[in-house]
Amino acid sequence: MRVTVVGMGRVGLTTAIALEHLGHEVAAVDRDKRLVGTLRRGELPFHEPGLASLWRNTRIAPVTALSPQHLNADILLIAVGTPGLPDGRADVSAVEGAAREIGQLAPDKADIVIAIKSTVPPGTTGRVQDLIDAELRQRGVTARIGTASNPEFLREGCALSDTLYPDRIVIGASESNAAVRLLELYAPIIRQQFSPPEGTPRPAGYTAAPVVQVRPVEAELTKYAANAFLATKLSFVNELANLAEELGADIEAVTAAIGHDPRIGPHYMKAGPGWGGPCLGKDARALLSTAADKGLHLSVVEAAVNANARQRQHLVERLEAALGTCRGATIGILGLSFKANTDDVSDSPALDVASLLLARGATVRCYDPMSEEKAQRERPDLAIQYQDSVDELSQGCDALMVMTDWAEFKELPWAKLANLMRGRTILDAKNILDRCLMEQAGFTYLGVGR
Ligand SMILES: NC(=O)c1ccc[n+]([C@@H]2O[C@H](COP(=O)([O-])OP(=O)(O)OC[C@H]3O[C@@H](n4cnc5c(N)ncnc54)[C@H](O)[C@@H]3O)[C@@H](O)[C@H]2O)c1
Repeated sequence: MRVTVVGMGRVGLTTAIALEHLGHEVAAVDRDKRLVGTLRRGELPFHEPGLASLWRNTRIAPVTALSPQHLNADILLIAVGTPGLPDGRADVSAVEGAAREIGQLAPDKADIVIAIKSTVPPGTTGRVQDLIDAELRQRGVTARIGTASNPEFLREGCALSDTLYPDRIVIGASESNAAVRLLELYAPIIRQQFSPPEGTPRPAGYTAAPVVQVRPVEAELTKYAANAFLATKLSFVNELANLAEELGADIEAVTAAIGHDPRIGPHYMKAGPGWGGPCLGKDARALLSTAADKGLHLSVVEAAVNANARQRQHLVERLEAALGTCRGATIGILGLSFKANTDDVSDSPALDVASLLLARGATVRCYDPMSEEKAQRERPDLAIQYQDSVDELSQGCDALMVMTDWAEFKELPWAKLANLMRGRTILDAKNILDRCLMEQAGFTYLGVGR
């Protein structure tokens, strides 16, 4: 099929690369000139496993503006950003802008389905249809343009794998033509009829992608509901972890035990520094705003958001209790990205913790194998000392904090690092280290909920 993807961020680019791998003819548009320049040089603007090698051999040549030719495709996917506004609402201006452009540029007799992959408030797909129809009417053009909601559930760090082997594909279409076309687009994924790209193998036992067909408003709400639920689950575990600390219990033992109950499940139950990243917080707040517009208060979701902010504070208080005071202390933070295998520092717990430590008078050093540049750009206001190696970071530190679960942090020469430090405290906010080994290396070990 001929597909146009609008928006070449993590979602649009991963989708475009995956669809080309499946054999579709893909065109790509992003209004960011610098980004398009980077992509046209064969480079990627971010780290995401498996994408670079496919992109080096791509035939996709992104451009900076949508043209009528892009609307002669079978499907156009809108994957533009929907950042949070200061009041929590999702900023859908890029989605609506793309819709207007589609209506202004569609050639007479165009026959295309517009699917919205961006995370948008319920009702947006209907509004996009109205905006397109209004532009077409004004121009007197008789194009057949249908719309659908097709929310994206990929996780950064395994975006390509999630795209090719998804938990489910949600299609929210109000008319059958749009649904049929999306089913055809994803048929190779649904039936798993493609050769896995090198480095992104098909998971053992994975034979087909489940498809959920609903109405647009249900597809849109599904995306928000999924992220709000995940946020709530983690906030619940983190609050329980704080209680476990007081009781002398190990949260990992407790979550393993409750996870055996199939109604609870073992996944996404890891206590830590609080959730972060570009989606969970933004989407939870957008859901709260959507509910508020309808006169409803989603108190559980609100509590999850508030508990998450407290969790970051709690970590700093825990460290301060161990050190006596943060004032004058030198703290080394290991990891800046919100999780491993991505260089994304959006809503990063590490940067928040750094900010809280600086406010308490600590000197803060940070090391991350991949995200230092992005962190400096995200928070230029923070007087963080960025270091090139873990050795440099540890030199003269009073305490270390592990804030990202990078695999390399599990295998560090801890005894040597302890000797470089002034103090010996380590707060393992991701619970990735072994207490006994850390104590043998000379550390006073603190985990989360342990
Ligand atoms: N990043 C994730 O992990 C993830 C996962 C699932 C869903 N989502 C959702 O998918 C959407 C995209 O996310 P992302 O992380 O890829 O966003 P992003 O901000 O990284 O990228 C969006 C891109 O769209 C471009 N753009 C904006 N308006 C445009 C227009 N009118 N025409 C052409 N290009 C335009 C921007 O220049 C930018 O490069 C968001 O709604 C997000 O919430 C993101």
